[in-house]
Amino acid sequence: MSLAEAQRLDAQDPLASCIAQFEIPQGLIYLDGNSLGPLTSGAKQRAMDVVNTQWGQDLITSWNKHQWIELPARVGAKVADIIGAAADEVICCDSTSVNLFKLLSAALKLRPNRTRIVSEKGNFPTDLYMAQGLRALLGEHIELHLVEREDILASLDNDVAVVMLTQVDFRSGHMLDIQQVSEACHQVGALTLWDLAHSAGAVPLSLSEWNVDFAVGCGYKYLNGGPGAPAFAYVAKRLQSDIQQPLSGWMGHANPFAFAVDYTPAAGINSLLCGTPAVLSMSVLDAALDVFAGLHMADIRDKSLLLSEHFLQWVDEDPACSALQLISPRAPEQRGSQLAYRHPQAYALCQALIADGVVADFRAPDILRLGLAPLYLRFSDLWRAKTVLADILTKHTYLDAKFQQRQKVT
Ligand SMILES: Cc1ncc(COP(=O)(O)O)c(C=O)c1O
Repeated sequence: MSLAEAQRLDAQDPLASCIAQFEIPQGLIYLDGNSLGPLTSGAKQRAMDVVNTQWGQDLITSWNKHQWIELPARVGAKVADIIGAAADEVICCDSTSVNLFKLLSAALKLRPNRTRIVSEKGNFPTDLYMAQGLRALLGEHIELHLVEREDILASLDNDVAVVMLTQVDFRSGHMLDIQQVSEACHQVGALTLWDLAHSAGAVPLSLSEWNVDFAVGCGYKYLNGGPGAPAFAYVAKRLQSDIQQPLSGWMGHANPFAFAVDYTPAAGINSLLCGTPAVLSMSVLDAALDVFAGLHMADIRDKSLLLSEHFLQWVDEDPACSALQLISPRAPEQRGSQLAYRHPQAYALCQALIADGVVADFRAPDILRLGLAPLYLRFSDLWRAKTVLADILTKHTYLDAKFQQRQKVT
């Protein structure tokens, strides 16, 4: 395998033209789209338009003139297309954490005779913290039962109200079979709440077809919505008229501009709304999602797997990389769109990579994560990333004191 071979793969890549829509700094190899997706030209243009024209010139009339008020539903419908849901099953609002809170409480309310939330010990901390916060509010009769990934199915019984899981593990990239797990949950009468932070825009999803009850996900990772972009929430159509969420803000009211004293939830997915939408961020996300128009998630998945299979092989074959211990699954069907390796100096290694123009990220205590986002990553970029990685490992440049210094955000 050589750079020429990687370039041959680039030449055959049906998604190769997508990269032109991204403004990635010249020469930078970006393997961190699973943390923060890069800027698209469309998103940049929209940001300027919203600031200069919509806010700057049209001011408050923009709520109607530029349909700001429709943004949560409009962006939700675009996300729905990417995650295999109907347009009116997804809404864009708040953060993933806040949406988890709303949907977890809605799920518990739908199962009043059950008291157990099942989740995974290794779940992303915010998911567990939100469940702990909800438990503190509702009372100690609510039980948060944390299990290992391999014990999820065995933990299901008639006391389980809701199973809250992240499909693609943020550390290893291990991917759960949503359909299989959801079916098993439904067999014991439990509801499912999926965190799709590392799935949306990266792997094909068919939430409606898989009978998923609830889901949430981030706008700033593979959806490229920008730093702190709003999140999304999905509720299956069949549950929408029965749910009640506790953050009953005015935007989720049936008629917000009637300014009634009493709360009456909006019909359908709009009842998930709480306060005023973050118009600047949501507009940017709206424009960023246009990159996905006309693309098929199956093609994105094909390229993602081709990228990861090649990288795995290059690392395996290079003795310079022997200190890296793969923690992502080798079986492609069990992998999301990232690779993760353990190394005792993973933090410093990551800093050395960034200094050499390869942006990866680190997760404590010893994990180097490489996000493989097919819309803007070339095979030749990935080959170069592996060459840089091997060079750093060979020369031990990561041992330099400047790479050992921990920053606030790691
Ligand atoms: C699985 C998962 N859930 C949630 C979040 C973050 O949630 P929030 O956007 O509310 O900070 C992340 C962030 O990396 C994540 O990986």
